Amino acid sequence: MRAIDAFLAALLVVPATCKYIVPGGRWHDTKGSIINAHGAGITFDQNSGRFWWFGEYKTEDRPEGGGVSVYSSDDLGTWTWERLALAPVEGHPYISPENIIQRPKVAYSTETDDYHMWWHADNSSYGLLLQGHAVSSTIGGPYKFVDATAPLGNWSQDFGMFTDYKNEQTYALYSNGDSVEGRDVYISSFDKNLTSLEKSVYRFPKFDLEAPTIMQTEKSYWALMSHKTGYRPNNVVAFRADSLSGPWSQPFIVSPLNTRTFNSQSGFTLRIKGTKKTTYLYIGDQWDSNSVWDSRYIWLPIEVNEKQKSLELNWHDVYDLDVKTGEWSPVKGKSYSVQNAKTSGGAYKQEANFATDGVILTGIYGNDSTITFENIEGSGKPQWVSFYYQTGGTPDRIGGSWQLRRISSVVVNGDVSSMQTLYQRDTHKGIILSTPLQLKLKKGKANTITVGGLFNGFDYKGADLDRIVVYPAEH
Ligand SMILES: *[C@@H]1O[C@H](CO)[C@@H](O)[C@H](O)[C@H]1NC(C)=O
Ligand SMILES: *[C@@H]1O[C@H](CO)[C@@H](O)[C@H](O)[C@H]1NC(C)=O
Ligand SMILES: *[C@@H]1O[C@H](CO)[C@@H](O)[C@H](O)[C@H]1NC(C)=O
Ligand SMILES: *[C@@H]1O[C@H](CO)[C@@H](O)[C@H](O)[C@H]1NC(C)=O
Repeated sequence: MRAIDAFLAALLVVPATCKYIVPGGRWHDTKGSIINAHGAGITFDQNSGRFWWFGEYKTEDRPEGGGVSVYSSDDLGTWTWERLALAPVEGHPYISPENIIQRPKVAYSTETDDYHMWWHADNSSYGLLLQGHAVSSTIGGPYKFVDATAPLGNWSQDFGMFTDYKNEQTYALYSNGDSVEGRDVYISSFDKNLTSLEKSVYRFPKFDLEAPTIMQTEKSYWALMSHKTGYRPNNVVAFRADSLSGPWSQPFIVSPLNTRTFNSQSGFTLRIKGTKKTTYLYIGDQWDSNSVWDSRYIWLPIEVNEKQKSLELNWHDVYDLDVKTGEWSPVKGKSYSVQNAKTSGGAYKQEANFATDGVILTGIYGNDSTITFENIEGSGKPQWVSFYYQTGGTPDRIGGSWQLRRISSVVVNGDVSSMQTLYQRDTHKGIILSTPLQLKLKKGKANTITVGGLFNGFDYKGADLDRIVVYPAEH
C-alpha cells in the first residue's frame, strides 16, 4: 500500500471521538498527568495506525537532559503515555542527564523495517553541536543509542526532520549554530536506511534562524523557522519553494504582528490527509523562560493560500479537529466583558483603544485588588475558559529584572479551596493574547469568576484583563 492509502485505511478504523484542541492549555494524558513532550515531533505510524508524539521530557532538575518521552493517540486529542523512548544514562558522553537532548524526531525506514530517532545532541555549553541517532524495531521504543555525529562534517543545533510524501525521501533540517561561520539552516537528505546523511540539498544562508520545520502542500514546500531569542518567543517566518533545492522565497511573518506567533516557537508541522480535506497543523512550543519544564504547546491550523504564495496562523482558543475527515472548526464561546465586571481594592478600568470594549482592567494585585465576572453561564461539566490579557501594559521592570510573565489566581463561585493558577505570558504593550483554563462551573447562569494576583517571583501583580470567553463542555 502507498503510505497515503495506508494512512486513510488506518484512520477508517479509528472511533469518532470529539476531543477539542486547546492551544496553551494544560493538556493531560489518559492517566491525568500533564503531558511532558517539548520540542515535539509527531509521526503517524502505518503499522499501528496511530500518531506518536515524541518530545523532550523536562523536569526542574533536568530541564535539557531528561531524555525523550513518547505518547500515542488516535485523534490527536487523547494521548496515552507510553514510556521514555530514550532514557538518559548516567555518565554517557551524549545522553547523560547533563547532556542536551533536544528536538527529537522519528521516521520509519521501509528499507530496513525499523524506526530511527534523530535529535540535537550536545553538552551543556552547546559546544558539541551533533546529531544523535537511536534505533528501535517498534515505534514506541525503547530506542537504542547508536551514535552522535557531525552532519556532513558540519555543526548541528536545532533539529527537524521531514519526509516528502510524494517520494518518501526523508531529510534532516538543522541550524548550524550561533558562531559567525554558522547561522545557516541546512536541508540534507538521509540514505534510505535513515542511518546517515547523504548530501545537502539547500542551505538557507546566514538568516540566523532556528527551530526549522518543513511542510508540504500540493504545490509547495514551506519552511517555517524562528528567530533566535532563547526561550522568549518571536515572530516565526516562513519561506516558500516549488522544490526543496530552491529557489526559496524571501522569509515572511506567519502570524499577526507583535503577537510573537501567539507567544510560541516553531519546531514541527503535521499534515493530516483526511477523506474530505487536508489540514496542516503548526506544532509549536509556548516556552516559559522562568520555568522551561512547565512550558505549554501551541497547535494551530495553518491556512495556506497557494495562489498568493502565502500561509498564515490564526488564533483559535478551542477547535474541533476530525483526523478522519481532516476537517476542523473553531468552537464558539460566550464572551464576558470587563465593562460589566465588579472590581475590588485597587483594581480599575482604564481607557484602552486596542481593547475589545475600549477599556482594560488593570491594577489586579494579590487577593484584595481583584475583578469578579458575574452571571456566568455554566454546564456543570469541566469547561475551557479563556482569559484575554496583556502583560506589557504596566511598568514591569521590578528590582532591575524583567518580569516575563504574570501569574493570576482564578476562583469560581468564591470557593478559594479550588483556586486555579493562570500563567499569563509575556506580551507586547497593546497586544492582547489569551490563556485557557479548564474550570468547573455550576449548571445555570449564577456563576462568578474572580481573578486576583499571585506571586511571580517579583510581586503579586496580575496581568491586565480584556475579557473572558467561556466554551461549551466537550460532548
Ligand atoms: C562541550 O564541548 C566543547 C567541545 O568539545 C568543549 O570545549 C566544552 O568545554 C564542553 N563543555 C562542557 C560543559 O563540557
Ligand atoms: C559549516 O558550514 C559553514 C557554511 O555553512 C562553514 O562556514 C563552516 O566552516 C562549516 N563548519 C564545519 C565544522 O564544517
Ligand atoms: C542498509 O541496510 C541494509 C540491510 O540492513 C544493509 O545491507 C545496507 O548495507 C545498508 N546500507 C547503508 C547505506 O547503510
Ligand atoms: C490573601 O493573600 C494573603 C497573602 O498572600 C494570604 O496570606 C491569605 O491567605 C490570602 N487569603 C485568601 C482568602 O486567599
